Amino acid sequence: MDKLLVHGGSTLKGSVHISGSKNASLPILAATLLTKQTCIIRRVPDVSDTNYMIQILTALGAEVERSSGTVRITAANIDHNAPYEIVRKMRASICVMGPLLARLHKASVSLPGGCIIGDRPVDLHLKGLEGIGADINMEGGNMVMQAPDGLHGKEVDLRGKHGPTVLGTDNLMMAAVLAKGTTVIESAACEPEVVDLANFLNKMGAKITGAGTRRITIEGVDELDGVEHTVIPDRIEAGTFMVAAAMAGCPENGVTLHRVCEQDLKPSTDKLIESGHHVEFNDTGTSCTVKPGSEPIGANIVTAPFPGFPTDMQAQFTSLFAITPGISVVEDTIFPQRFMHCAEMTRMGADIKVDNGTAIIQGSQNMSGAPVMASDLRASAALVLSGLCSEGTTEINRLYHIDRGYENIDDKLIMLGANIERVRE
Ligand code: EPU
Repeated sequence: MDKLLVHGGSTLKGSVHISGSKNASLPILAATLLTKQTCIIRRVPDVSDTNYMIQILTALGAEVERSSGTVRITAANIDHNAPYEIVRKMRASICVMGPLLARLHKASVSLPGGCIIGDRPVDLHLKGLEGIGADINMEGGNMVMQAPDGLHGKEVDLRGKHGPTVLGTDNLMMAAVLAKGTTVIESAACEPEVVDLANFLNKMGAKITGAGTRRITIEGVDELDGVEHTVIPDRIEAGTFMVAAAMAGCPENGVTLHRVCEQDLKPSTDKLIESGHHVEFNDTGTSCTVKPGSEPIGANIVTAPFPGFPTDMQAQFTSLFAITPGISVVEDTIFPQRFMHCAEMTRMGADIKVDNGTAIIQGSQNMSGAPVMASDLRASAALVLSGLCSEGTTEINRLYHIDRGYENIDDKLIMLGANIERVRE
């Protein structure tokens, strides 16, 4: 198992190109199952989650070629059965349910297992699919669904107790594009990744309006075509590098991020500015430079669905606040159990108390490197950030978590001046 040695104390400067979005790529790759024709998807990040999705598509019978960031998929003849061996590796595998059901009128997809960041039930996915006519039963750990007469558009409210669901909205949208009649998704997720999927589906010939709002309308069509598409920039990778720049950037020149989307980064930008750092975008909003402020101050965060502050940036900001003077309070309302990184940061000298989905952080300048364990994707990124600003070496174990979603994070940080080594074991 690879581990990362982060030697603290380097100053970051220069520029970095942000990869395509992992969380936009996953449902878009799944959506290629909706057509027999060839789709070409560009800027798919080379991370293990997109590789798992490609393995699933291949296991379902699609022909897939991958060359650097471009993935070419032809799903001419596909099977309806997504096996446990592959599905268990990645929760987002469940977003093949919608396309399989839409195209084949049946699907058998293994129920994903537990997840370190919380319970992560699938009730809303099932509610959505049942709402437009799927009959679903649990059999041997699989969700077996069928709609012998096809799916039929209806109004479905996808509001859950923690708000809307991103992949649940994606699944219903993908199922509804080939349904008879019109589907209306109320309380839909409005994340930029949902909008990117809707744009991809519309290019294929779907009739979707309202993506990016809480009400999405999908008028079913008979078939969809193969198309080319470039996925949007990864706002979470970008946000992570913005925080890295605020924590360890050169005060004069800062760090410049290329290929970003200003609008998608607003919650992270606003919090960095509130904490005393400097963020400046170019005129087109596609590049930004982040410089650490001379008098940083703690701030409070409450995660919320987009356009609120993303849960996927919570761990990285916790890392920032751990070295920022003052008391910061970070509450995760979406995944209240997603605080495993705090115990590891405490081992590095951070002063963080976690109670009931809220972390109270007393900032301190004196963190020191220690062996730590990555628990999930964003937690591991947060530990890398803490390591950059700690004295001595931080050894991050279970690195496979970070490789699930950050393309070459160590190489990118090294290019910016970080002193990091990957130890392959
Ligand atoms: N929820 C339910 N029932 C469901 C589905 C979700 O109660 O059927 C709850 C969840 O437990 C959670 C809330 O609804 O409390 C929101 O979860 P959501 O369904 O939106 O999460 P997701 O679609 O499974 C995506 C991202 C996550 C990100 C969340 C929230 C992908 C592949 N994953 O997951 O990304 O945290 O939205 O924004 O898009 C990550 O990249 O590190 C990551 C975990």
